[in-house]
Formats: sequence, structure tokens, C-alpha cells
Amino acid sequence: MNSHNCIADDVILGQNVKLSKFINLYGCTVGDGTKIGAFVEIQKNAGVGKNCKISSHTFLCEGVSIEDNVFIGHGVMFINDRYPRATTGDGALQTEADWKVERTVIRKGASIGSGVTILSNVEIGANAIVGAGSVVTRDVPANTIVAGNPARIMRTIDAAVTANTSNEPIPFLDLVTPHIELEQELVAAFRKSLRAAAFVGGSVVEDFEQAFAAFCETDHAIGVSSGTDALRFALTACGIRPGDVVLTVPNTFIATTEAISQAGAFPEFIDINEHTYNMSVAMLEQYLHEQCSRDNAGRLISLRSGRPVTAIVPVHLYGQMADMDSILKLAGQFGLTVIEDACQAHGAAYFSKKHDRWMKAGSMGQAAAFSFYPGKNLGACGEAGAVTTNDPTVAATVKMLRDHGQVKKYYHDAEGYNGRLDSIQAAFLHTKLPHLAQWNQKRHERATDYNRLLQSNDTIVLPYEPSWSRAAYHLYVIRTRNREQMIEHLKAAGIGTGIHYPIPLHLQKAYEAMGYGVGAFPIAERVSREILSLPMFPQLRETQQQRVVQQIMKFSTTIASPQPEQDERSLEATAPNA
Ligand SMILES: Cc1ncc(COP(=O)(O)O)c(C=O)c1O
Repeated sequence: MNSHNCIADDVILGQNVKLSKFINLYGCTVGDGTKIGAFVEIQKNAGVGKNCKISSHTFLCEGVSIEDNVFIGHGVMFINDRYPRATTGDGALQTEADWKVERTVIRKGASIGSGVTILSNVEIGANAIVGAGSVVTRDVPANTIVAGNPARIMRTIDAAVTANTSNEPIPFLDLVTPHIELEQELVAAFRKSLRAAAFVGGSVVEDFEQAFAAFCETDHAIGVSSGTDALRFALTACGIRPGDVVLTVPNTFIATTEAISQAGAFPEFIDINEHTYNMSVAMLEQYLHEQCSRDNAGRLISLRSGRPVTAIVPVHLYGQMADMDSILKLAGQFGLTVIEDACQAHGAAYFSKKHDRWMKAGSMGQAAAFSFYPGKNLGACGEAGAVTTNDPTVAATVKMLRDHGQVKKYYHDAEGYNGRLDSIQAAFLHTKLPHLAQWNQKRHERATDYNRLLQSNDTIVLPYEPSWSRAAYHLYVIRTRNREQMIEHLKAAGIGTGIHYPIPLHLQKAYEAMGYGVGAFPIAERVSREILSLPMFPQLRETQQQRVVQQIMKFSTTIASPQPEQDERSLEATAPNA
């Protein structure tokens, strides 16, 4: 029987293209191995890649571009002009010259169900699936399933189950997937803010503040413009004065010490515990007893700088809380204020023997600072931060400081700052907050799996989580003596890593004038040469994690590297809050 196919001379057909019957092709290209069903039309300037399946009755118009390995179901309809009309303004029939073709792209590996209509100027991402009968009006992200009219995201696809993706790069941090998962809610929150013109302050901010205070189990949360401002405002509101000394650790992000300096105070450092990487209580105690004196007024004076020591900022690094009972006890003995840098520790908890209960990060100091920088466990879609406190005076002062020192509009009790939390960011944060506990749980599961899978590797040191800690695993940090080679090995395998942080603050150029030299804080210095942060985020899939582990194991067998040296596990680390 005649196939009744109409294949114009200008069609470029690849090798082994399989054509059914009643097919109409002109001016198009079709890649090797592709199969085309009956009654399909493919117009000029349309392209179909290799190994695709185009099912019967589908219409691929000019401007449609289909990449390799794509499945198109029956009767799929593409539209290539945003305003298709039969006639021109003066009533004449439109010609091709009147047609404004807009491109539509179907990326590699995508599947389009039967009866789908795809409007012009749309991109369907790699491996995405469009449910049968959907009407696609806007771009579909890669690795998502969409359905409906208009098509909406139903869920994401585990890319490991999709062919050809088992070697896909594994990012150190995936910020795209959580935003795809919450796209509709986030867009709705954005739309609500636009429609109410709610951009600064107002109920959107207050609602988030209340919800975040409840999450942290504090009386107050005050939204501000960043974690750095949160720390600066908390220090000032807690009474830290220009010229004071504030004690913190050298292995933190510079924002901790910037905030201390911006509050007019001076940072001095305490070395860290080798196992938890947080402030060493033994070193703090030693500093207070041996490196301070009392002046005539009874103030604690730093022998190093001659300035009064008034506060401690423990940093809950990598999402694990510092030994707060012990730090608070020493602070109480020496009359110091404790302000937590909880910028990496949303949802982390500490078992307080003093209070005989688990306590959340941000609820134990006089005040605490949180950052909502996008990569944090709770991240905004821009810059944001918050101060938490149980002290109403501190809360009121932070509110004043963030808003030009105003107690009410145009009544300024003091000079303040433009440090408010943007309402749109508050709306985004409030949308994400209900997911935080579950995200932290997933981080914890991934950390437990890393620990189990890597425990036999004696060339690396794994993170240490004492029994009194429930870490939020903002970062999963191992130690290795062959760090630079391991980074290169993982990079070659498509695996991202980070170093938090490569140079301790006392050795940074910015703090040269402090006069600390190499060897001033030996533990922080040694650790900074060995630490390596592995991929860690709630959406990290087990298959991805196994690949990370396999590559680390493979690397370790190629080098003869002893485990990084460790001091005897100190009492402080094993039974710290006794
Ligand atoms: C420990 C620590 N403190 C303070 C900050 C500052 O937060 P932000 O970047 O929101 O100003 C960060 C942020 O990275 C941090 O990790």
C-alpha cells in the first residue's frame, strides 16, 4: 500500500528515521533514529532531535525545536504566534508575512502527554513531564511534572531515575529545587504583597516575626535586613558600648566581627574546641582568669587591650550549638552578656542540664542573631535577618534601631539605621517556615548516612555531635590532610564542595592591626587547613550522596594519608555541660 507520505525535498532526515503513513513534512529536520506516527505534520524551521518518538496526529509548527530523546504523545498541538488571526486589520486574509513566529523549545528527555496544547514562547525543561490534556502557558522547569489547565507543577522528578543523568553534577548546595517545589506558594505570596503594595513593615512582617519567635521558642523575633545587622542591633540593644571588648571565635564568618566593630566594640578571640569547632569553654575560662584583671570600678579588663570585657558571642557554627550552659555559667560569674550568633543554626537545639530540657538556638542568650541569607537553612530570596530575645526592652530597642531610631513616625529617640526586614522577604520566609523542621530532619538524615557510610575511612575526621546537641547541619564538615587533592578529585567527578572558612579571622588582612600572629589560636588554625564541607541540603538524594561517598572512598585508596591528628577527646567535648 502507498504510504501517502508527503516529504518535501528540503527536509533533512537523519539515519534510520521511521515514518508511519499520511505524514506531511516540509523545511524541517528530523534526527537519527526518530520515529514519527501517522497524520503528523512538521512545518518549515521546526526541528526534531535524535531518538524521539512523535506520536500520531501531532502538529509541530514553525519555530518548534525538539531536542534528543523526547516523547510526544498523540494529538499534541503547538502554537507559534501569540496573537493568531485569520485576517489583517483591513479584512484581507493574513499571509505568512503577518505571522510573528515565537520559538518553543522542548529540552532533552522531556515527555509530553497526549492532547497537550503548548502555547508559543515556552520552554519545557530537560526530563520534565507534561500530563495528558494539559495546556502549557509558561516555562516548565527541568525535572518537574506539570499538569492541568493552565499547567502547574505537581512535583519534582528524582533525576537519578531518569536515563542519562546518573553522572549529572552534584552541587555543593541546591537552591533551585526547593524554590521549584514551592514556586506556586512563593509566587502567590509575591502577588499578595504586590496587590496590597505591602513592601516595608506591616502585618506581613509582624506575622512572620510571631511565627519565627514561636519556632525559636522565644517571646520576640524582630525582622531586620540581614544577619550582620541582627548581630549589630542585638549587641547595641543589649548595652554593649563603644570601646567594649566582645569575645568570640576566630573560625567564623567575618560578619560576626564586623557587627562587633560596627557596634563600636572590639573583638577578641577565644580558641575553639577541636571536636565541636565551637568556642572552647576551657579556653574561655582560661582567658577570663588569666588574661583579664579588675579595675578600680570592679570592671573586667582585657590585659591585651586594656578595654572592658562586656560580652561573649558564641557562634553556633555549621548548625551546632555551642556549649551554652557552660558559657552562660561563666558569663554569669564574670558579669558578661551572652549574645548568640545563630546565623547558621535555625532549629538547632541544646539539652540544658540547668533547665532540664531541650532549648532552641536563639532562646538561651540575652539575644540572638539569625541570618536568612538564601543558602541558610531558612533562606529568603534576598537579604534578611532577625533578632530573637525574651527581653521586652531589648526587643523594643532593636525595633527602634532598625527603623531610624523611631518610636513612632518622625519621633526619633536616637539615631538608628535603615535596617528593616523587607515585607516581600517576610512573606517568602513565612511561606518557607512551615517546611523548616522537615528540611532540618532531612539534613540530619543525610548527616547520619554520611557518618555511617564514611565511618570506615580512617583518613578523615567526621563531624562530632555530642549527646546534648541536636544539630541543624547547615553544613556537613569533614577534615582531611589531603584537602586540596580531595577537592580536585571531587570536582573532576562533578561534585561541589566548600571551605568554611579557609583563613581564621585573626590571620585575615583586615585584622592585621590586632597583632595576633600565626600560632595565636592553634586549634582554629589547624582545623582551618583541614576542613571540607560536603554537599548538604534537604533535597540531596541518597543516590547523589552515595556517589559523593564512593568518590571520597576512591580518592582515599589512591593516597596514603593518615587521619588528621587529634588531641585526646577532651572531657569538655564528651561530657561538656556537666
Ligand atoms: C556565622 C555567621 N554570622 C553572621 C552572618 C551574617 O549574616 P548575613 O549574611 O545575613 O548578614 C553569617 C552569614 O553568612 C554567618 O554565617
